[in-house]
Amino acid sequence: MTFDVERIRQQFPGLARKVGSAPAIFFDGPAGTQVPLSVAEAVSHYLLHQNANHGGLFATSVESDAVLDEARLAAADLFGITDAQEIVFAANMTTATFHLSRAIAQTWLPGDEILLSDSDHDANFTPWKLASRDSGASVGQIHLRHDDTTLDLDDLRRKISPRTKLVAVGAASNASGTIHDVAEIARIAHDVGAIVYVDAVHYTPHALVDAVSWQADFVVASAYKFFGPHAAILWGKRPWLERLPAYKVRPASHALPDRWMTGTPAAENIAGTLAAINYLADLGRTTDPSAGTRRKAIVSAMREIATYERSLAKRMLEGLVRKGYRVWGITDSARLEERVPTFSITHPDPKWLPINLAKHLADQGIFVWHGNFYAQPFTEALGVDEHGLVRIGLVHYNTAEEVDRLIEGLPD
Ligand SMILES: Cc1ncc(COP(=O)(O)O)c(C=O)c1O
Repeated sequence: MTFDVERIRQQFPGLARKVGSAPAIFFDGPAGTQVPLSVAEAVSHYLLHQNANHGGLFATSVESDAVLDEARLAAADLFGITDAQEIVFAANMTTATFHLSRAIAQTWLPGDEILLSDSDHDANFTPWKLASRDSGASVGQIHLRHDDTTLDLDDLRRKISPRTKLVAVGAASNASGTIHDVAEIARIAHDVGAIVYVDAVHYTPHALVDAVSWQADFVVASAYKFFGPHAAILWGKRPWLERLPAYKVRPASHALPDRWMTGTPAAENIAGTLAAINYLADLGRTTDPSAGTRRKAIVSAMREIATYERSLAKRMLEGLVRKGYRVWGITDSARLEERVPTFSITHPDPKWLPINLAKHLADQGIFVWHGNFYAQPFTEALGVDEHGLVRIGLVHYNTAEEVDRLIEGLPD
């Protein structure tokens, strides 16, 4: 069955927006996607009919807790794990990472070391740097190759040692779109007994998260990047979640699944996160009616999404190269499986600053980001100046016509 993008777009009311007389083009997905109606309805249904705090014996609290339980099962399906008690909901990825990094760092000693990467968002970088400062551990950095922005795993092999306690890496860069070989990174890290923390925030809307085949110890994603509301999902292997020292107030449950949740959860957003995962599963069932379980349906959805997005990526790359733009990432259309459709570009004439390019596009109703998108390790490693880059981020609700309009709208 072909990918029916028009049917998909009808589910996203936000996409109907116009700027002047032009239909808006949402190429801002890496900073937050639009949501299908089912997600907005799930948030509103929770608030209007199930709104209650956690752990009461009365109807709304019981229903609210049932929503949280179902959302955990859905999140487990999204990540491909079987124990839903290992799922933690957080306000956002940054908060989850600060929380966990403080706890993990309590197990580090001076002389220990952690490895971060040049290709990461600062949220998978600075929390670890600060935790290492607090514990006396030192920090190493896995470099990226400047020609194609892939991570240099030989550099990782050179730098890792039995003193390495943690390797934190993104599954895909939110600047270049490069997909990192997480399974190989985890294998190298586990050879020395290091914990592997995977930031799947940028990867999740584009491809299948598979925590088990990745052999990760922790995986984190943000629902607002995969068609949901503002909430994050953190998964960790049960022994870590049980053993690591969690920061908790006294009356709160110190047992899983509540152990790593602090304060009152944004339950309406967790209800919306459940709906976003179900949206993906429904998409999978549409393209493959025999998909069966929610996990199988998600597998099918992500396969369809990745294939469709690669067709858009090919078209985008051809257009950008034709126009002479510099693309800060993989440009070879034979290597599209190594990237997601996120393109950071600069104009060949440095007088066209990213901010002016982004404004030029905004005036045509084309929404893109400029700056460093918090991918500061990336822009620092590549020597990008303070003006940054322009980022065009596609997801599965974008179309070939939108790609063509962008290419046409870019100044020569
Ligand atoms: C790759 C990546 N990691 C982490 C984050 C931070 O996510 P959050 O806003 O949920 O803290 C982002 C947000 O842009 C991101 O793109």
